[in-house]
Amino acid sequence: MAARVCARCLPRAWLCRRARQGYGRHYRAALCAELKQPLAIGDVARRPVQPHEVRVDVHFCGVNFADILVCRGQYQEKPPLPFTPGLEFSGTVLETGADVSTVKEGDRVIGVSNFNAMAEECVTDQKTLWKIPEKVSLQEAAVLPVSYGTAIFALEHRARTQPRETVLVTAAAGATGLAMIDVATNVLQAKINDAFLHVLQRKSTGKVLLSLK
Ligand SMILES: NC(=O)c1ccc[n+]([C@@H]2O[C@H](COP(=O)([O-])OP(=O)(O)OC[C@H]3O[C@@H](n4cnc5c(N)ncnc54)[C@H](OP(=O)(O)O)[C@@H]3O)[C@@H](O)[C@H]2O)c1
Repeated sequence: MAARVCARCLPRAWLCRRARQGYGRHYRAALCAELKQPLAIGDVARRPVQPHEVRVDVHFCGVNFADILVCRGQYQEKPPLPFTPGLEFSGTVLETGADVSTVKEGDRVIGVSNFNAMAEECVTDQKTLWKIPEKVSLQEAAVLPVSYGTAIFALEHRARTQPRETVLVTAAAGATGLAMIDVATNVLQAKINDAFLHVLQRKSTGKVLLSLK
C-alpha cells in the first residue's frame, strides 16, 4: 500500500510557500472541515511557541490508519472541526521555545503530534521530537515515530520483553508489524517465529507517505 504524494502534484502556491513565510504569519495545512469528506488545503494562523515547544518546518508526514479513522469521526479522539490530521512527521527546526534544550534551529528531526502534522509547519513539545542521524533521510525517518513508538511502548514498556523470550507477531506485512519484529530481535534480543521472518523478507515497507516538499 506504499504510496507518496509528490510536491509536483501540489498547487504552485504550496510550493512557493517559502517566499510567503517571511511576510505573513500563516502557513498552509490540510484541513478536515467536514467528516467523511475530502481534505482541503487552507491557510492557518501561526501561534507563538510556548517555552517547552518547537516549531518544525515539516518535510514529510506519515499517513496512518488513525488519520483515516479520525477524519471519519471513528477514532477514540474526536478533535473539533476544522482540524488538521497527521500524527507523525519529519522536518527541520524553525524556532525553539525559551526552555528547549534538546534541539536547535536547523536540526533535522522526527516527531509525533496530536493531529496537526499534515501542514507546512507543526508546533510540538520538545519531548516528542528526536534528532535524525545523518545517514537517515527525512523521507525514511518520517514513518518511524508511530510504528516504532508503538513497538517500543508495547514490547519494552508494557510487556517488558526479556532477551531470548519469544514474541508472537500475528501480522507483519505492514509498518507496525515490521517494527515489532525489528525491535523484538535487534533491540530487545528476543526470538520470533521463522514464518514471520519470511514475511519480513517479502515486504520492506507498508506505509503511505505524504511529501510536503
Ligand atoms: N494501538 C496503536 O498504538 C497503533 C499504532 C499503530 C498502528 N496501529 C494499528 O495497527 C494496524 C496496522 O497499522 P500499520 O501502520 O502497520 O498499517 P500498514 O503499514 O498500512 O500495514 C497494514 C498491512 O495490512 C495489510 N492488509 C490490509 N488489508 C489486508 C487484508 N484484508 N488481508 C491481509 N492483509 C491486509 C496491508 O497489505 P498491503 O500493503 O498489501 O495492502 C499492509 O501490509 C492498523 O489497524 C493500525 O490502526 C495501532
